[in-house]
Amino acid sequence: MSIRILGTGSYLPPRIVTNDDLARELDTSDEWIFSHTGIHARHIAEEDDCTSIMAAKAARKAMESAGVAPEDIGLIVVATSSPDYSTFPSTACLVQAALECPSTGAYDLQAACAGFVYALDQARGWAKMNPDRKALVIGAETLSRIVDWRDRSSCILFGDGAGAVVLGNVEGDDGPAAHTVLWADGKGAGFISRDGGTRLKPQPGMFPVPTLVLQGHDVFAFAVRALAKVTNQLCEKLGTTPASLDRVFAHQANGRIIEAVARRMKLPIEKFYLNLEKTGNTSAASIPIALDEALRGGELRDGMRIVLCGFGSGLTYAGTYMQWPCL
Ligand code: UT7
Repeated sequence: MSIRILGTGSYLPPRIVTNDDLARELDTSDEWIFSHTGIHARHIAEEDDCTSIMAAKAARKAMESAGVAPEDIGLIVVATSSPDYSTFPSTACLVQAALECPSTGAYDLQAACAGFVYALDQARGWAKMNPDRKALVIGAETLSRIVDWRDRSSCILFGDGAGAVVLGNVEGDDGPAAHTVLWADGKGAGFISRDGGTRLKPQPGMFPVPTLVLQGHDVFAFAVRALAKVTNQLCEKLGTTPASLDRVFAHQANGRIIEAVARRMKLPIEKFYLNLEKTGNTSAASIPIALDEALRGGELRDGMRIVLCGFGSGLTYAGTYMQWPCL
């Protein structure tokens, strides 16, 4: 028996905001943003869209491509840092209702931009114990609602969207070797944060909507180290080398981060899937959106050796090595 990704789906809201659009409101330019990030545009949720709605849209596509029905789904995990409600109910429960899955567990997982890799690992463990059911793993974000649109050094990075995969057991031989590493370093908690939890002292008469705060340089340096570390670790663990990888699906945060990882690992940049030019940084959604696009575009084929790797607030970082589509 082997655990596989049986289907993928993604959803990007139709509204596109280009760098030139931002430059009409902020002291910035397409030239600055593109040269510092590799981003030209991002999708921004409509007013009546939110994380659970986009997550359900991506999930429906993943279920359709996997050929599974709502009653086949036994687990829904939504990785997100921008849930519909600030804490509860979970976005995953809202997705469960929207998809009308009659018998499933559902919960959110918060590991910021590394959340999808964390969620995939949890769902893989669950799928091993539940061979007759399928799991939906979703990364979904509406970061446009929590970024500070006056802060040109952070708001230019982010976009909205959702990506999903369906996991399940397939009868037959064990699949090829796969592995995941999960890491955290809470000492860097201040590098990317959004206050407003129990740390925020209530102000009389005020209901602030706290925004995202970013220490760009610190995150950049950490990201390059983290992505290279997890990719090297996975290869070592499986007795292979980064050069033997067919593709790396790194969190799409900034093209310059990915270029620096490629240089550090002495890998050609072509090994790294890149789509952030049109999506911006969609946090936990970026890896499943990239997987879905690559698969539908014929750039991800059965048997390819790939690494999925992400990093984010926490700090968290994580990676999965797999031979597509076996986990
Ligand atoms: O999912 C994880 C999320 N976070 C990240 O991935 C963030 C990682 N870090 C980064 O991507 C980069 O640090 C940024 C893109 C955020 C910033 O790029 P940078 O090359 O580190 O720029 P900087 O912060 O060093 O700023 C350089 C200059 C500053 O001006 P002065 O002080 O030199 O006069 C900034 O005020 O660029 C200015 N600047 C801008 N100028 C035009 C910062 N943002 C902008 C902007 N347009 N949007």
